[in-house]
Order: sequence, then structure tokens, then C-alpha cells
Amino acid sequence: MVSAGLSVEIGALRLPFPTLMGSGCYGTGAEFAPFADLSRVGAVVLKSLTRKPRLGNAMPRLVHTPAGMLNAIGLQNPGIDWYLEHEMVALAEAPCAMIGSVAGFAVDEYEEVCAKLAARPEIAAIELNISCPNVASEGETFACDPRLTAAVVRAARRVTRKPLIVKLSPNVTGIATIAQHAEAEGADALAVVNTVRGMAIDVDRWQPRLGNVAGGLSGPAIRPIAVLAVYEVARAVRVPIIGQGGIVSTADALEFFLAGASAIGIGTANFFDPRVPERIVAELSAYLAQRGLHDLHEIVGRANVGFASAEQYEGDAG
Ligand SMILES: Cc1cc2nc3c(=O)[nH]c(=O)nc-3n(C[C@H](O)[C@H](O)[C@H](O)COP(=O)(O)O)c2cc1C
Repeated sequence: MVSAGLSVEIGALRLPFPTLMGSGCYGTGAEFAPFADLSRVGAVVLKSLTRKPRLGNAMPRLVHTPAGMLNAIGLQNPGIDWYLEHEMVALAEAPCAMIGSVAGFAVDEYEEVCAKLAARPEIAAIELNISCPNVASEGETFACDPRLTAAVVRAARRVTRKPLIVKLSPNVTGIATIAQHAEAEGADALAVVNTVRGMAIDVDRWQPRLGNVAGGLSGPAIRPIAVLAVYEVARAVRVPIIGQGGIVSTADALEFFLAGASAIGIGTANFFDPRVPERIVAELSAYLAQRGLHDLHEIVGRANVGFASAEQYEGDAG
């Protein structure tokens, strides 16, 4: 069912709702079916897959923090071949679009996994999780380097015509430049942003609380970081943005739309309230109706920042 005014296009893919479930936070949706109506979800982004199976990082992998959570799962997954053979078929009957997520430690790994996933009819689009270290350049993260980002997107674009979403990291100084490189290589949309790097220490045991020492912070703690990233990327590219980072309510979602996102991702919120996505969809409709608006796109990027020209915006100058 398409709800008037809420549909969104990501390349050739039209979703009835602008709500995507964040990779690694929603499984295939099956686990959430008893609690949430998946036909009211825009799409599920599946857990990132790599070429080889990965056991993930040492425990503990999750830590609660004020207004958020730190995770260092370490891309645990069964590997693309096992996934295609054993888990893919379950997606055929899914009540919403399924978006495959690709991770890798080398450009040719992204290319291979992307090609295999995209070849499956169950997969509507591909998201590239580029927040991984590149073994060929001393572990530099793909998402932190415009050239590495471009190389991954180019390789993926070569092997599929399905919509390509590139998921950017907030752990950079110039996210707009990275976004432009992804767009120039054929990204159909950008997911903004992945988790923020962080660490927590157990003061009784004098030890890092994550087995991996460092992890990715998600949840409301990162929302202002994510909103600013969306705002800056929206000014730099033309492709649609899927804003994410700490969305738990309709007011949060609206911040992202006003900053320039055409769709939103919801991750951590699902862990404590699986009805958040449905509630946001219902309340967005009401919000538009109350204001006499017909389409969500009417508010995208409409935050009135009060600058007469782009030159007046000076970033975070204190
Ligand atoms: C436990 C956990 C696992 C995640 N796994 C992945 C993953 O495999 N691939 C990916 O691209 N993002 C992954 N993410 C990031 C989320 O998809 C999302 O982009 C991020 O958490 C910010 O949104 P949120 O604050 O709504 O969770 C993960 C996040 C969490 C909390």
C-alpha cells in the first residue's frame, strides 16, 4: 500500500514509506514480525555480508551509554555464499523491499559480494557499508578517503544496475567531499550516517568495556552529529539522502527531512520499541495533513538557516 505523500524513490526503486530499517539492527525483519507490521516499513537493510564468514569481535560487543549504545559486533556474518544458499530464499515472501548490504576489506571483495547479492531477485537494491579498513592501504577506512570511496563505488557500479546506496561514515572531516565522490561514481543514494567511533572504560576493572576496545556509537547521542552531516551532504549532492543516527520519534525524523534527507534509517530504536517505525509513518502523515501539505518532499531541505548565500555558512566556527 502506498501512503499518499510518503513514497520515496531511490534510483529506480520506489518505496511506499520513507523508513528503512538500519543494517544490523533488524535482521531480515522476521524477528520483528510479531511486534511490527512489516508492510508498513519502507525497506529492511540486511546485515552486511562479506566474502568469507566472520565470527566477529571478542565479547563483550555491546555497551549501554547515556542516550545511546556502543557496538563492536565486527561484521559477524556467514559469508555471501552460505547466505545465498541457506538464507536468501526466506526473503522471497517478505512484505517489504529487502536491501542487501555489502562490506569488505578490499575493492575486489566489494565487487564480488555486490555482484552475487545483486544477481538475486529478492534483493531490490544494494547498500555499500564502506566503514571497513582497506587491507591494501594499511587499514585506512574506505569511507574516510574520497579515492577509496570512489574505487569501491566504481567497482560495485560495474557489476550491477540495481540502485546503489553508499553509506557514509561520520568519522571524517569532510563528509561532503566523500559524498561527491560517491555520487560521481554512480551512487543512486547516500545513507548518512553510520556509527560514531567511541570507547567506554570499566573504572572498577580498569579495562575497556568492549572486547574490541573501540566501537560504534548509535542512538540519540549521535543525532545532532548525523543531522549536521545530512545538512552538509545535502548541500553538496543531488542524489537522495537516507538520514540516520538516533531517530526515535517523529520529531527526530522531521529534523532529518528538514536538513535534506528524503528518507530515514531507524536502527537502535528498534531494540527498545519495534513500533517506532510504524508510529513515525502514521505521525508523518498527520503532520503533513495538519499543515495542508501533500507530499513529504515539500519539507525536504527546508530548514530555514537564514543565510543569504552558501559563503556565509562557516561550519562549526565557535
Ligand atoms: C548492533 C548494531 C549493528 C550494526 N551493524 C551494521 C552493519 O552490519 N552494517 C552497517 O552498515 N551498519 C550497521 N550498523 C549501523 C546502523 O545500521 C545505523 O546506521 C547506525 O546505528 C545509526 O543509526 P541508529 O542510531 O538509528 O542506530 C549497526 C548498528 C548497531 C547498533
